[in-house]
Amino acid sequence: VQVLIIGAAGMLGRKLAEAMAARGIAGAPVTDLRLADVIAPPVPAGFSGKVQTLAVDLAAEGAAAALVADLPAVIFHLAAVVSGEAEADFDKGYAVNLDATRALFEAIRAAGGGYRPRVVFTSSAAVFGPPFPEVIGDDFRTTPLTSYGTQKAIGELLLNDYSRRGFLDGVGLRLPTICIRPGTPNRAASGFFSNILREPLAGLPAVLPVRDTLRHWFASPRAAVGFLQHAAAIDTAPLGFRRSLMMPGLSATVADQIEALRRVAGQQAVDLIRLAPDPVIAAIVETWAQDYDPARARALGFQAESSFDQIIAVHLEDELGRPHAQAR
Ligand SMILES: NC(=O)c1ccc[n+]([C@@H]2O[C@H](COP(=O)([O-])OP(=O)(O)OC[C@H]3O[C@@H](n4cnc5c(N)ncnc54)[C@H](O)[C@@H]3O)[C@@H](O)[C@H]2O)c1
Repeated sequence: VQVLIIGAAGMLGRKLAEAMAARGIAGAPVTDLRLADVIAPPVPAGFSGKVQTLAVDLAAEGAAAALVADLPAVIFHLAAVVSGEAEADFDKGYAVNLDATRALFEAIRAAGGGYRPRVVFTSSAAVFGPPFPEVIGDDFRTTPLTSYGTQKAIGELLLNDYSRRGFLDGVGLRLPTICIRPGTPNRAASGFFSNILREPLAGLPAVLPVRDTLRHWFASPRAAVGFLQHAAAIDTAPLGFRRSLMMPGLSATVADQIEALRRVAGQQAVDLIRLAPDPVIAAIVETWAQDYDPARARALGFQAESSFDQIIAVHLEDELGRPHAQAR
């Protein structure tokens, strides 16, 4: 299978490239991997197939056409400007999250000749906006309250329409907040959910900017890669033309996160967390939804963790090389 990953230098893109190289799609090996991002993506270790890395801005004139020129069978579109940045820089957010997405879909349509690739698009729970019911079901309206959420919601509509018209075979994944995000914090307002676990697990201090009763929806990076791999292979007929699915996850409070940290790494790790209320971050995250019932995705076989102990165990195993029984 020939696979193109756009946004392949990002947190999920790198992990997805490694998973594609190691496991392929539904047992079929990936023979040809195209990895594109504004910064040159790394080549997954030990991949024996053909691999090409491209430093390219998807929003640039002609970039999308060049990327699909040799008709990859599966395209993962992960390139995006994250929530905080899309809110701070209106032009950049629309240029990347909307215009470049449309340019990609148009390039696929223009290829013609019956070309109809599987396109896996990463959307977000940010397509929803308050007021929220206690639990959000699959039929909840999409009325985003951020520019990022609006751009993702439009991307979902384009994915539906280009699928309906037969130009591509799309699956949109509304990802939960991915936790524990490895590496250094990015400009997402959700960063602290990862920082308060990742830093203490490494013996470093962390700041908690919100109340610990705050509840939110999470899945691990490993689960997210699993969603992407699964989406590349599912039968899309049951989706009809509602191509985007809320992904499974775990509804947990900050206090639940901290209790799991205490169980795994002890009180000395918890003592590294300092409460420093930040009204700006609190104002953003207080408007986020707390719980979902992603019945459609579960019925289609998408799976995530069911406890924060598991999410921490995945981090210990995948990022710190410490095998952990609970990560299974
Ligand atoms: N991580 C999460 O919690 C989360 C939650 C919901 C949705 N998502 C979505 O999942 C996707 C991947 O998330 P991530 O956490 O890996 O993000 P990330 O920021 O780590 O990676 C995104 C990548 O896109 C690249 N990119 C940005 N603009 C580009 C352009 N014009 N052309 C080419 N590449 C460009 C960036 O360089 C970056 O490497 C994104 O679409 C994001 O919106 C992530």
